[in-house]
Amino acid sequence: MEQSLLNKIRENTDIVEFIGKYITLEKKGKNYFGLCPFHNDTNPSLSVSREKQIYKCFVCGEAGNVFNFLMKFENISFKEAVRIVAEEIGISIDSGPIKEDKNKVFYDIYDIALKFYQNNLLSSLGTKAREYLANRHLTMDIIKEFQIGLSLDKRDNLTNMLTKKGYDLKVLNDLGLTTNNYDTYINRIIFPLYNTKGVVNGFSGRIYNGEKTNKYLNSKETVIFKKGENLFNYHRAKEEARKSKYVILMEGFMAVIRAYTIGVKNCVATMGTSLTSNQISLLKKLSNTVYLSLDGDKAGQTATINNGKMLVEAGLNVKVIPLSDNLDPDDFILKYGEDKFKSLISSAINYNDYKIQILKKGVNFQSSTELTNYINSVLGEISLVSDEIKREIMLKNLANETNVWYNTLEKKLNEILNTKDYKEKEQEIKVIPKKSKKDKYEKAMQTLIYYMLTNRDVINLVINSHLYFPIDSYRILAREISYFYEKYGYINMADFKSYMENNNVLNETFNDILALDLDNNPNRNTILDYLMVIKNYNKALEIKRLENLIMNEVDPLEQAKISNQIMKLKMESENNGK
Ligand code: UTP
Ligand code: MN
Repeated sequence: MEQSLLNKIRENTDIVEFIGKYITLEKKGKNYFGLCPFHNDTNPSLSVSREKQIYKCFVCGEAGNVFNFLMKFENISFKEAVRIVAEEIGISIDSGPIKEDKNKVFYDIYDIALKFYQNNLLSSLGTKAREYLANRHLTMDIIKEFQIGLSLDKRDNLTNMLTKKGYDLKVLNDLGLTTNNYDTYINRIIFPLYNTKGVVNGFSGRIYNGEKTNKYLNSKETVIFKKGENLFNYHRAKEEARKSKYVILMEGFMAVIRAYTIGVKNCVATMGTSLTSNQISLLKKLSNTVYLSLDGDKAGQTATINNGKMLVEAGLNVKVIPLSDNLDPDDFILKYGEDKFKSLISSAINYNDYKIQILKKGVNFQSSTELTNYINSVLGEISLVSDEIKREIMLKNLANETNVWYNTLEKKLNEILNTKDYKEKEQEIKVIPKKSKKDKYEKAMQTLIYYMLTNRDVINLVINSHLYFPIDSYRILAREISYFYEKYGYINMADFKSYMENNNVLNETFNDILALDLDNNPNRNTILDYLMVIKNYNKALEIKRLENLIMNEVDPLEQAKISNQIMKLKMESENNGK
């Protein structure tokens, strides 16, 4: 792709605004900070610079411009990322033929099956199923939006259709569409499941005649379907969650579909299993804040506590929408109406408060043992709250309801906090990235290259002094920077990063340099010092080479010559050192 076009697209896209649509950024000093989506971050360590138009993570070292961010975040190619960024500013780019997914044929088969099932539902054989859906207050529009279908009461309906089209039964078995050569889904309402890109990769089939069998039958794990790596409705909720700045996590997909009907479109579901770390990463990509709207029964409460804990540990803000009468969100909305549910969303409570409410249930305040246990667990919860004022309020409430002296509670809380602080510090030490120890020569080379990218005078200085970078990667980088500068008449990190996109070998070296945190305006003398450090290093290398040469030289005249050269070099270095 034309470099000048890349530069133009990048220049017209502000990196802070752009990344801000994907993760929550907060301004601290000159830069913006957010949770890094590229490692398991619990402390905002991704820094985005408006001035330099680059981002970098202080922990995992990920760095780059707006294109690199999108590439990594959506797991797409550089070209694809450029196309998307360009589209946002109204430039359309043909990114050429998109690389064929090796699993494409599997998705194609699912797509054919999906259309087949959708068609069944609309046919005369679908009357009862349509009635069932109507009774559940699912309109035709919703049925279309969620691409709901029907498998007929025949065991070879889909099998025949697909094998006639020439698909191999073995493949269909592997994909879970057939089981032992016959249809997997028989007489069920078919809910398609999608991967994060919104492509159908599985089905969940629900009974609708009250048969005595599993309520839902789900796709087995296949090459394209991994239950723990998907969240139902992720692709639809993406935009909505980013807009509303929170995402609602539910247990079942019926709840998500119901919420959608009342215009609450930022919901996703785990589909009845416990939350995986993979799903937590997906949630993080949607928002910093997760609302838990799980079922109102005992199992739902336990799941709320467990999921909430994992999400808090992952650095997310967690709120809870507790539902009464053991209802799930679907039943709740049908019973109490959309306004009631929406008001529950706006009054969602903090996870910590929710947990305390649950702890309190069934505690006999007359029993000193039970009361002590209760107080200790609540103090444990309070210790997790980072806001000091919030902690004080919670502590006061606890003192009031238990009639235990505030100061006693406070003392105990401080004890917990102190041991926690200690533990956290220990942990932090473990997280500190292992930076390979750089010697002063490497540091000098990195610093010079950094300033070549921010300051054209430094480029000229390096060129005019014929500086030779003794390490290949730095030498190539310096040469490329000079080339870029001569060709385009300017230089900056963000555009040079696009320019270097095809050079995978230098990626890591370059990212290390981007991640440096240096003063904006280098002092000329500092730059000269760094130049000298490298020059002396080169001389030291040359001296070593010559000394080796002398040892193998037999001709005394030659020996004297070399020895002279060495002397000269040594003297030069000494003078420079001053
Ligand atoms: P629920 O039993 O809460 O189902 O299971 P639901 O969402 O209320 O569905 P309806 O209203 O009865 O139709 C929650 C989730 O657990 C999974 C499904 O993904 C469901 O969405 N599940 C449940 C199964 O996989 N198999 C089952 O037999 C039941
Ligand atoms: Mn239900």
